[in-house]
Amino acid sequence: MAALLGRVRSDLELGRRLAVLRAGTLALAVAGDPVARLFQAPWRYDPYETYDAVRERGPLVWSRSGTWVSSDFATSAAVLRDRRFGVRLASGQQPFDVTGGPVDAQAETNTLDLSLLGLDPPDHTRLRRLATPALSARRVEAMRPTVEATTARLLDGLDLRRATDLMDAFASPLPIAVISDVMAIPVEEQHRFAAWGRTLGASLDGVSSVRHLHRLLRAQADLQALFDRLLAERRRDPGEDLLSRLVAVDDRETTAEEVVSLAQLLLLAGFETTTNLIGNALRALFAHPDQLDAVRRDPAGLAPGLVAETLRYDPPVQLTGRVAHEPVELAGHRVRRDQVVLVLIGAAGRDPARHPRPADFDVSRADAESLAFSGGAHYCVGAPLARLEGEVALSSLLERWPDLRAAGRPVPRSTTVIRGLQRLSVRA
Ligand code: HEM
Repeated sequence: MAALLGRVRSDLELGRRLAVLRAGTLALAVAGDPVARLFQAPWRYDPYETYDAVRERGPLVWSRSGTWVSSDFATSAAVLRDRRFGVRLASGQQPFDVTGGPVDAQAETNTLDLSLLGLDPPDHTRLRRLATPALSARRVEAMRPTVEATTARLLDGLDLRRATDLMDAFASPLPIAVISDVMAIPVEEQHRFAAWGRTLGASLDGVSSVRHLHRLLRAQADLQALFDRLLAERRRDPGEDLLSRLVAVDDRETTAEEVVSLAQLLLLAGFETTTNLIGNALRALFAHPDQLDAVRRDPAGLAPGLVAETLRYDPPVQLTGRVAHEPVELAGHRVRRDQVVLVLIGAAGRDPARHPRPADFDVSRADAESLAFSGGAHYCVGAPLARLEGEVALSSLLERWPDLRAAGRPVPRSTTVIRGLQRLSVRA
């Protein structure tokens, strides 16, 4: 009874804190603060307008929400690659608490365990080495036949004579099947992944409600239980999969918790983002009929350009953050130790100083360089796999249904860090 009362009280307190936070964000957004606008409807649905407005104020601006914001390509790339920036505060803690509370000794319970994404060297370097070999460009190229077969199997199951939600029927199950295959996770476990991914992905924006926090904690506990079990199985009976390789390393080098949280990150990062790469590419094609026509005529030839241009034009991960580990002179400002720079990945891809006609979606662009996979120490481990999946998925889809078209308006997700679609109704 006392425990239940305690929980009700802490839920009420959290609900109050979130309401205050929401009111504060709304007030800042109305006053024009760019960071608040990125996290607040209606502005969050079109961040590119806010990005342009921030960039016009300068490459690095101070937000009243308490962070620096970088929006041009050169400054953003420099921050990501600069070793004087990391992801933890001098105290060793993460700079953000998902519930919007102060970062103090207890706050660690309210931060996400992001594995590599939340670690600085030397822990980051040590753990990252475990994951990279299995996802190298060479290994990934060897996965092509499996990715093609999985794609064909999913496409075989579609009947596009009637309107179909492609996010649910294709863009989401494909990357889940591929990363599950890499980890040898049985098919019967996979039905819960999409919902976990959405809950955990949304929490990168901070939790939105008490219900969201409970869903998040449940998803984390379920995921933890799944990997505790799978990793124990692999220790007893190892195979050739990525999980077996993770448990095969010397356990004096890593703790069991580190391996579990790395496995969770690889699973979630492995599908949440790639799903949105496929959805965002199709959304952009439907909005640009000339580009859709061009890709229809040569799906395989233009697929790499389509993927690169989508990553520049409308990337699935829109922003990340770095903490200054020492004072840094940057774009004419002094960033103090422990201050955070929000790096607007989506804005960097639209910087007119880096790309001519940045707001045009052009799959034949000679140079579509972006920061969609970040840069420096945290550069995406799964970039080669994501590119392969995006290329195979989009080219196979348009080869099979050259007259694929939208059947209704795409429904966007309401998240900021992860940008993608909730629903994309199509027919052919
Ligand atoms: C289009 C798809 C993808 C996008 C846009 C994407 C984007 C990103 C970004 C922006 C980061 C770095 C964030 C930061 O600097 O703070 C990152 C890191 C990471 N990604 Fe991806 N990712 C994608 C697919 C994948 C896939 C398929 C996997 C795994 C199979 C993966 C695994 C990881 C891991 C493990 C990290 C952490 C790296 C580190 O912190 O050292 N990602 N990704």
